[in-house]
Amino acid sequence: MSSLIPIRFQEFDLEAMAQAGGRVAIIIPDDGKMSPAARRANRLTKGGLARLVESESFRKSKTGDVVSMAWPTGMAAEALDVLVLPRRPEAGEARKAGAALAKLAGGKDMLVMVGNQARAEDLALGIVLRSYEFDAHKTKESQKAGTVTISHAKPAEAEADFAPLYAIADGVRMTRDLTNEPANVLTTTEFADRLVEMQGLGLEVEVLDEDKLAELGMRTLLSVGQGSDSPSKVVVMQWNGGAKDDAPLALVGKGVVFDTGGISLKPAAGMEEMTMDMGGAGVVAGTMRALAKRKAKANVVALVGLVENMPSGNATRPGDVVRSMKGDTVEIINTDAEGRLVLCDVMWYAQERFKPVGMIDLATLTGAIIIGLGHENAGVFSNNDTFCDAFLKSAKAEDEGAWRMPLGDAYDKLLKSRIADMKNVGGRPAGSVTAAQFLQRFVKEETPWIHLDIAGVASVAEETSYAPKGATGWGVRALSRFVQDNFE
Ligand code: BES
Ligand code: MN
Ligand code: ZN
Repeated sequence: MSSLIPIRFQEFDLEAMAQAGGRVAIIIPDDGKMSPAARRANRLTKGGLARLVESESFRKSKTGDVVSMAWPTGMAAEALDVLVLPRRPEAGEARKAGAALAKLAGGKDMLVMVGNQARAEDLALGIVLRSYEFDAHKTKESQKAGTVTISHAKPAEAEADFAPLYAIADGVRMTRDLTNEPANVLTTTEFADRLVEMQGLGLEVEVLDEDKLAELGMRTLLSVGQGSDSPSKVVVMQWNGGAKDDAPLALVGKGVVFDTGGISLKPAAGMEEMTMDMGGAGVVAGTMRALAKRKAKANVVALVGLVENMPSGNATRPGDVVRSMKGDTVEIINTDAEGRLVLCDVMWYAQERFKPVGMIDLATLTGAIIIGLGHENAGVFSNNDTFCDAFLKSAKAEDEGAWRMPLGDAYDKLLKSRIADMKNVGGRPAGSVTAAQFLQRFVKEETPWIHLDIAGVASVAEETSYAPKGATGWGVRALSRFVQDNFE
């Protein structure tokens, strides 16, 4: 497990600038006018900063760009980073700018001279998100135990504004850690243990074991895990920060700790990526962490289905028919379409037990969504326009790509089975839509529902603005905001 880079807010102090090691950052608004910190830096560097500001590379730079001066004269720092940012930036601009600074610092010490610049809390969030690194399995001692210091005109106020954002960043961190973790470490049992630990934050956490799941009739879920030595589990987490009688929002996550495909075995090339097939459960866990840490005034219940999809003499075969908790039977044509088999039982249970005001499921469900939307947007499917639009608005505000996709009877028909109530695949065309149609069969008419297919965004091969390569934590910020804007 990793931890967030420590961040402290200090009294604005021009003296600190000359003495600080690591990197020092100052902000120059796009009009080029110098702040007190910039004027001081200019004096320390004997006019060096003024020359930089007049240089061609600086004149060409735009909001969020950083132009660096290495080993500046008159300063102890190894670099002076000059950040271009308007005096009153948008939240997203400030976050991206912070992330750009953090990328340069690479986890080492940094001092940011903010002064009375607006949106220091967003700048700090960008720094914290981009300073993340998954080094749990790097044995060479890390030299990156840096800290971030924000030099601010009103440090106490800035720190208070930052507190809920730090809670969210810690949720993002947890999601990334879970999603990056290899499957021999993050077994179903280890995953459940890490969720139980969150009881310390005031969450109620329950673990349902295989006997209990069998008793509840969750046979489609159990059919996925039966080829693995790791026991299947469902973990229920409740955050009751709202009014006592308010029905909760339900979050449901696909937690396939490793997806070999089962008997419908995946090809060897790239199979190692399937350690991230618990990404939906990871986002659900990180969101609950964020809600608990920022003490959200809402009732939210989260359920994750934790299984491992392995081939074995005991594994489910193509052609097997299993009965879901709802009672509908499923002909399993392809054991690699396992996520929907996990989710359908957990979603049914969530509705039966909690009668939620709405339900959002997250899953790395289909390769087809990557063909459709790439790594920029998650696929959004919903049975309720109002509910869906509210989520899309939150995702947009947090700069997390989300794009609505269609549902409809013509797609649903593709799931007809000769011998059972439905089959678990609908063929190659519209693979993400037929997967969503399968799930919708387990959504009650009265439940507003959103399905988020995050296969393309949960973990990516290239770094993003806010994350290095690997797990992104996509969705934690959008969901936390969605809860805040609609349920608090
Ligand atoms: N976990 C995969 C989907 C996936 C693919 C996630 C790539 C992340 C990256 C899912 O369980 C799966 O195998 N889906 C199949 C469905 C098919 C058999 C109908 C797929 O997408 O090929
Ligand atoms: Mn699969
Ligand atoms: Zn899968």
